[in-house]
Amino acid sequence: MLDGEVAAKPPVWLMRQAGRYLPEYRELRATTPTFLDLCYNPKLAAEVTLQPIRRFGFDAAILFSDILVVPDALGLPTSFETGHGPKLQPVTTAEGFAALHEAVDMERLAPVLETVERVRGSLPAETALIGFCGAPFTVASYMVAGAGTPDQGPARALAYRDPDLFARLIARVTDASVTYLSAQLAAGADAVMIFDSWAGVLPRLEYERWSQEPLARIVSGVRARHPGARIIGFPRVSGGQLLRAATTGVTALGLDIAVDPHWADGALPAGLPLQGNLDPKALIAGGRALDDGVDDIRSALARRPHVFNLGHGITPDTPIPHVERLVARLRA
Ligand code: CP3
Repeated sequence: MLDGEVAAKPPVWLMRQAGRYLPEYRELRATTPTFLDLCYNPKLAAEVTLQPIRRFGFDAAILFSDILVVPDALGLPTSFETGHGPKLQPVTTAEGFAALHEAVDMERLAPVLETVERVRGSLPAETALIGFCGAPFTVASYMVAGAGTPDQGPARALAYRDPDLFARLIARVTDASVTYLSAQLAAGADAVMIFDSWAGVLPRLEYERWSQEPLARIVSGVRARHPGARIIGFPRVSGGQLLRAATTGVTALGLDIAVDPHWADGALPAGLPLQGNLDPKALIAGGRALDDGVDDIRSALARRPHVFNLGHGITPDTPIPHVERLVARLRA
């Protein structure tokens, strides 16, 4: 589908498809002290990646890891505390920036690449394996705040107060992302996705500098090493920002739930594959809400390459029968 064909039945996978809504995930997660221990354990991470494929037969698997392994491999102490989300040593000064590694430590990320190799070796040939990283703005926003925030206020304030320092931080994460995604493709990923979950907090000028340009640089950097690499961009933006994201060279764009897929079909370049964008709440609701949401998105994107997905990650309160209903409706 990322190669441009239009299918009568769109392929489907779900963001965060390996996770806490699955009892088999919760069982395995309980065997490691921390979430990062699971991310850095190739045998267990591969198993978790495969769990939703076995259960639902999705058309793609997404590598089980996290976007914050990149700051960790740049030498920034990173942890996840159950119930509190991520915790990092905040980078807010030139001294803090100077403490980072110049280049991403690929030794630290070796277990993730081993997970990619293991999963590709176990997946059916017809199931794609998607690798990923966070986009520089989204990753940097956690590095600056040191934790999750409601609006990434600390990173936005730093970008206005000291744009030179913020530019150096963005450039460091951009270079790390090129190295890391290239290594995932070399290890067997069929495509890679770049999550810019927080791009939507940026006004036009800031979006261009901190989200759009770094995305374009990652695309050209990865393609210099892997010509033809399939790269899915997922900047959670709409309107003009989404039109600009389409100029970065990405193979496909993921749509957030706020994007009207009928508008997207008319506004975005013909033939550009789109991924998305069912509301995770409709999947929780099930029944008519689910069916109507699915049918509307399918009809909007029927004339172009479309990969069915959610518009944001699946949440732990999602009933498993509703996921089965979604897949059955798409395949009927
Ligand atoms: O999609 C998948 O199934 C693959 C794995 C994956 C995870 N995180 C696993 C995870 C992917 C692709 C991500 C991306 C990610 N991580 C993003 C971008 C997408 C988005 O959701 O906006 C972001 C911003 C993060 C950072 C992150 N990781 C936060 C803020 C949190 C805590 C909040 C939460 O949802 O728990 C995480 C933890 C995390 N990442 C979990 C999982 C399965 C939960 C950890 C657990 O099991 O306790």
